[in-house]
Amino acid sequence: MSEQPGMPSASAGATVTAGPPAEGSPPAGREPVVARSREELHAARRALTDGDVAVVMTMGALHEGHATLIETARQRAAHVVVTIFLNPLQFGPREDLSRYPRTFDSDMEICRRAGVDLVFAPTPDVIYRDGDPGVRISAGPLGNVLEGQARPGHFDGMLTVVAKLFHLTRADSAYFGQKDAQQLLLIRRMVRDLDFSVKVISVPTVRESDGLAMSSRNMYLTESDRETALCLSRALRAGAAAASEGPSAVRRAARAVLVREPLALIDYLVLVHPATLEDVPEWYRGEALLAVAGRVGTTRLIDNLPILVGPQGGALEVFSDVESAGA
Ligand code: PAJ
Repeated sequence: MSEQPGMPSASAGATVTAGPPAEGSPPAGREPVVARSREELHAARRALTDGDVAVVMTMGALHEGHATLIETARQRAAHVVVTIFLNPLQFGPREDLSRYPRTFDSDMEICRRAGVDLVFAPTPDVIYRDGDPGVRISAGPLGNVLEGQARPGHFDGMLTVVAKLFHLTRADSAYFGQKDAQQLLLIRRMVRDLDFSVKVISVPTVRESDGLAMSSRNMYLTESDRETALCLSRALRAGAAAASEGPSAVRRAARAVLVREPLALIDYLVLVHPATLEDVPEWYRGEALLAVAGRVGTTRLIDNLPILVGPQGGALEVFSDVESAGA
């Protein structure tokens, strides 16, 4: 089973509200335990006995999006473990692993503020003891489209580390952002298809006030790149505003925004079914994922909006029925 915390549900109208902090959690501001090795992690994890444990997995360079995941986890679980691990396995040879921002001190400040119990921040040799693992998780067909097409092997590398971190942290629940919709879908599928006993919870995309989806990669953007990058979220909103007119109206409205911004090199703009990632046909009415990816300057950016296509159509915060989204 999967849930969405504290978010208006799209069609059911029910709202699950995050309750007060669970008993046993440390007050915000307390110093989290930092574990670098497996031994340190196991010792610190063994100490978290009184209540359930949530994990928030990150690659560091934490921002308000990550902080929201942590705070949501903090409200729902007795203990929160944050992992900070820049996973080389999910980066291609021409990708940004070497320039990816490393900001451990300010990451720790965010964890401290949010009342995290335990930060697991290993180096690659701790996670991959024998070098590159020979055995890996295969994302399957859903891992070959959209982001997977642009980044071959990315989702196998991502799922492999997520599986390892599930085992190492022994978390009861895990919080992931809707910002990385395909990643979230694949993690849900892995948990279901391979019978992991962890509850996956999605958190809506956190945005800057001008609509730009928060991302560690936004740090690469120059001032003018950042202006250009706004066309992504603007296109999604324009698409959502046309949702009552059907799929081709959504695609047309979104594309119209993107073509006005030639400095954004768009890789794809799609309106797909949330569980299959296949283009929805013109007759389709229901929940769909409007997703966009493109390059601005030297930076690859992705963004998406869950939308409801049909008479009452428009943007959703998250999908109402995560089971139908492959949960
Ligand atoms: P990273 O990009 O650091 O993201 C960590 C988590 O934060 C993911 O669940 C991501 O979806 C979420 N997140 C990022 N930006 C967000 C935003 N603006 N709003 C809401 N959530 C946001 O995703 C990864 O790391 C890695 O692939 C990982 C899962 C850690 C495996 O290596």
